[in-house]
Amino acid sequence: MEIVVSGIRSTGNLHLGNYFGAIRNFVKMQEANHCYFFIADYHSLTTHPTPADLHNSVKTVLVEFLACGLDPEKSTLYIQSDVPAVAELYLLLNMNAYVGELERCTSFKEKIRTMPNNVNAGLLTYPTLMAADIIIHKAHKVPVGKDQEQHLEMTRTFAGRFNRMYDVDYFPEPVAYNFGEELVKIPGLDGGQKMSKSDNENSAIFLADSPEAIRKKVMKAVTDAGPTEPNQPKPQPIENIFQLMQAFSAPDTFSHFSNLYNRCEIRYGDMKKQLAEDIISYTTPFREKMETLANDEAYLGKVARMGAEKARESASRTIREVREIIGFKEM
Ligand code: TRP
Repeated sequence: MEIVVSGIRSTGNLHLGNYFGAIRNFVKMQEANHCYFFIADYHSLTTHPTPADLHNSVKTVLVEFLACGLDPEKSTLYIQSDVPAVAELYLLLNMNAYVGELERCTSFKEKIRTMPNNVNAGLLTYPTLMAADIIIHKAHKVPVGKDQEQHLEMTRTFAGRFNRMYDVDYFPEPVAYNFGEELVKIPGLDGGQKMSKSDNENSAIFLADSPEAIRKKVMKAVTDAGPTEPNQPKPQPIENIFQLMQAFSAPDTFSHFSNLYNRCEIRYGDMKKQLAEDIISYTTPFREKMETLANDEAYLGKVARMGAEKARESASRTIREVREIIGFKEM
C-alpha cells in the first residue's frame, strides 16, 4: 500500500469548489492507500490567530472533513500539533535548507508582497515544515493542487539532500497524487472560472451555508441580458451557471434550460431559482451532519486522540531512525 499524506489548511470553511476539487477524492483515496490527513495548525501560526480562533478553526476543519466522509477508521486523521515529532524533524531539516532557496519560493515572495509587516521566519521556513509533515511518514504521494507543486518539489529536494548527506536511502522522494480526469472544476458565481473564497464573498457557496444564504448568493450570480440569436456560444458567466447546473441539477433540468437558451427564451431568474434549490438539496445532508458533529465534543475528542496515537507511532519511528542516522547517541 502506498503512503499518502495531505495537510489541510486550518483556516476557512469548505466550499463546493474545495469539495469537488479535492475532498471527494480524498474520500476515495482512503480505500486503496494508507492515508495520513492532518489539520495544519502549526502552519496557521504564521498569521498569529488568537487562541480561541485557532481552536475554533481546527474544530471546524475536523467537523467538515468528517462530514465529507473522511473516515478515522480507514485513515489516520490527526491534528499536526498533536505530533511534536514533526517539529523536531522540521528543526533538523532547517539545518540543511538554504535561505536562498527558501527566499526564492513563489509562495514566500507572494507573502512578502501581501503581508509586508509580518515576514516571519515561520513563513520563510513554511516549505521545511511542509516537507517534515510529508516525510515524517515516509510518504510516497501527496495530493496537491497547482499552488503546492513547488512546495512538493522542495520536499523532494530536502529528502534527497538528507539521503545523500548521510549516504542512506531513507526517505522516499514523494510525488503528486494524480487524480487525472476525476477532478470536477466548479466555477464561481462571480463570473470567475473557478470557485474561490478570496476573490469575492459571493463567489463561493460553502457546505455550511444556510438555504437562505445559498438562495441569496445564487440569485446574485452574474448574468447578462440573454442571447439575441439562437444557438449562440455562452459568455463565461453564463457558461458558469450552466456548468453549476450540470453538476447539481438533474440532466432533464439542464437540458430544459439549455434548450431555452438556444431558443433565446431563457429567463435567468427562473434558472437561478431552480439551481439554488438543487444546490440546497445537495448540501443539506452535509450541513446537517456538520451540525450534529459540532455538538458531539466527545466523539471529536475520540477521533482526535485516535488519530494522534496512530500518527505519533509512525512519526516517532521516523524520528528515532533519523536521530540514529544523524549520529545522536545516548551517552
Ligand atoms: N500548504 C498546504 C496548503 O496550503 C497545506 C499543507 C501543509 C500540506 N502541510 C502539508 C499539504 C503537507 C500537503 C502535505 O494547502
